[in-house]
Amino acid sequence: MLAYTLIEKKQAGKALDKAEIRDLVDAYMKKEIPDYQMSAFLMAVYFRGMNADEISAYIDAILNSGRRITFSDKDTYYADKHSTGGVGDKVSLILAPLAMASGRVKVPMISGRGLGHSGGTLDKLESIPGFRTDLSLKAFKKQTDAIGCALIGQTDDLCPADKKLYALRDVTATVRSIPLICGSILSKKIAEGIHGLVLDVKTGNGAFIDQYKESVELADKLKYFGEHYGLSVRPVITDMSQPLGNKIGNWLEVEESLDVLQGKGPEAVREVSLALTAQMLSLADPDRPEKEIRKELEALLDNGKAYEAFLTIVEKQGGDIRCLQNRERYTPAKHIIEIKARRAGTIAAIDTYQLGLDAITLGAGRRAMTDKINPRAGMELHRHIGDRVGRDDVLITLYSDDKDAAEKLSGSITQRFRFSEKPISKPPYVYEKR
Ligand code: URA
Repeated sequence: MLAYTLIEKKQAGKALDKAEIRDLVDAYMKKEIPDYQMSAFLMAVYFRGMNADEISAYIDAILNSGRRITFSDKDTYYADKHSTGGVGDKVSLILAPLAMASGRVKVPMISGRGLGHSGGTLDKLESIPGFRTDLSLKAFKKQTDAIGCALIGQTDDLCPADKKLYALRDVTATVRSIPLICGSILSKKIAEGIHGLVLDVKTGNGAFIDQYKESVELADKLKYFGEHYGLSVRPVITDMSQPLGNKIGNWLEVEESLDVLQGKGPEAVREVSLALTAQMLSLADPDRPEKEIRKELEALLDNGKAYEAFLTIVEKQGGDIRCLQNRERYTPAKHIIEIKARRAGTIAAIDTYQLGLDAITLGAGRRAMTDKINPRAGMELHRHIGDRVGRDDVLITLYSDDKDAAEKLSGSITQRFRFSEKPISKPPYVYEKR
């Protein structure tokens, strides 16, 4: 197998066969193919796409690069949720304990780190002092069965090819590709050994796939290929034309998740979390009316049971729950700067993608894989699309330990907001399930 000829074939828009895709991924894992050739191949896929057989072969190749988990409790419904990525998307931190608190499913969740402009669940969890995301697969399974949920990162034996390809795509601008997203998400989720998968397919300018029509295509493909591997898949298309909720940044998002888990917090985060968790329980029990499921989940947020479940998970995974119970214990960012609106008007649009990059500038994400994240860094939005803003109203608060970065950004960040003189309707939180 010559990588060069496969790159050329894909570049010309021709389909690769199953063996070629398998050999390419295998050779990359054995370091027989360098990053630059794999990057060229990924870029060719980015422009030329993959047909259904190629996508299946690509999922297979990543899946077979590692082990697959099997859960032995035949009476339990194991389910997970995965998001296609967004800004301020802290739903996993709420959905996992909420589903656990219902006692109707068990959630073995394997999450990722920040990718491009988007945040990652692992980085958010690791902002909790002591929280360990590196459990062995044995410990992961044991905890899932014992308490109903475990939250970890990818291990070296579970889809290691995705770990390597994900990192490469992150730095070669090849994330925004439907076949590559299908391969990355589905391989991981199939390897988890779950029965049901809820997919949060984000649409809008903060999503990797921003156009609605393409988000639908992604949702349908994820469902088609997931079902092909025996999973019950429920994609839900949700809004990412603005950050989800108010807070962006790792610890800040943990704080907002705690609010929602205690029956408070922004409506957008509560609504999206409830909608996705309800779909998860509906996959487990398709005959149950969705209204009834939703009522049960609302009660679990309002009566503190979901919050208690989160504390249980954190404690089990070595995290210090004292700073969750008493948030003043957490050291805040050194520089907290309030940014005021320079004009009055109604917010018509927010450049969500750019805000995601701004959060990285403040220290909340990585520019290179080796960068260290500052868990305290990020921002808080005080206004969203459709909100009326007066001149000098506080629009956004920046949190950073890097004074220069925060001060530099404070001069330009209001440009991420477009204002209108006319009333603007608020975008829905959830568009449709597929
Ligand atoms: N999330 C993933 O796990 N993979 C992608 O390719 C995009 C989002």
